[in-house]
Amino acid sequence: MQLHTNVDLSSYNTLGLRSSANLYTELHNIIDLHNLIQNESVKNEKWHILGGGSNLVLPEQIKGLVIKVANKGRELIQEDSDYWYVKAQAGEVWDEFVQWTLQHGYHGLENLSLIPGTVGAAPIQNIGAYGVEVKDSLFEVTGIDLKTGELKTFSNEECKFSYRDSFFKQEGAGKYLIWDVTFRLPKKVKLHLEYGDIQKELDRQGLDENPENISKAVIAIRTSKLPDPKKIGNAGSFFKNPIVPSSQKDELLKQYPALVTFPATDGKHKLAAGWLIDQCGWKGKKLGPVGMYEKQALVLVNHGGASAEDVWKLATEVCADVKNRFGVDIEPEPIRW
Ligand code: EPU
Repeated sequence: MQLHTNVDLSSYNTLGLRSSANLYTELHNIIDLHNLIQNESVKNEKWHILGGGSNLVLPEQIKGLVIKVANKGRELIQEDSDYWYVKAQAGEVWDEFVQWTLQHGYHGLENLSLIPGTVGAAPIQNIGAYGVEVKDSLFEVTGIDLKTGELKTFSNEECKFSYRDSFFKQEGAGKYLIWDVTFRLPKKVKLHLEYGDIQKELDRQGLDENPENISKAVIAIRTSKLPDPKKIGNAGSFFKNPIVPSSQKDELLKQYPALVTFPATDGKHKLAAGWLIDQCGWKGKKLGPVGMYEKQALVLVNHGGASAEDVWKLATEVCADVKNRFGVDIEPEPIRW
């Protein structure tokens, strides 16, 4: 395990923000981790865990130690008559893992194709897309207590998943490092075609309904709507879709019949934040070096050279406009260091 000083992180966050870490290290195996925990010189530093950097807003100067989780590996660890149990190390790239599962016939993650980030970050915000969330097939998570180095297994229930949220973003934040994740994938194929344009895209490409083709369709839809972080800095959806009581949804629908809503849990309703932001005129609009993407108003993009300050300035204005116009609070999805 090597400690580096003053490391430039602008290529380690998909928003491409200018950012530098006082101290930086990479963990490739469990020995690296134990060495780190026993290292007296970093004991009193604040530790920040970095995965793929796709859901983060980094400040210009990061005080403390940035720990990049870089352990690799994926394998089938068990199977029974109904399920495959597949384990992946936290540092695996999420979409490479998804493609590997599909190549081996372990389906169930196809709707989550092409989501940026790592396997270890996926449970933290319970990544989701096209009607599926990581919580639907996650079996367990191995976490490492950052104080003691002890391993702790978290069942799906203990992860306390909800929409873009989990124990690891709440009570567990900063306490555990996710080391590996095990998925339980059904042998009986269950396709999720109901959301958005998947069926339309399969028909357009003349593809049969199967997991590999759903993955292809999802990739085509995502590529057409979301900017490629390699070309234009972004962190996917910048805001969560707000969840409101059904009375508020009904009131809003009376005034705005075109409002896009989806049923959520507990009789509440999710509103499409992209639609709300779009209606406020922010789609394709810039503020300094940042702006809201021209094809999806929910995605904040860095047109070049932005800092965290530029990002928060725009985010604050967008939130205020949505609140003034619709009386709805929207919350950023990325984590702020
Ligand atoms: N819409 C607009 N204008 C816009 C953007 C969207 O009117 O500028 C409307 C769309 O026409 C559609 C509705 O809003 O009727 C919803 O849009 P979309 O299907 O693109 O989904 P979303 O709710 O904006 C969520 C996730 C995405 C995920 C997609 C597909 C959140 C915060 N975002 O977006 O996840 O890919 O659904 O399932 O839940 C991410 O989290 O980074 C992410 C990209």
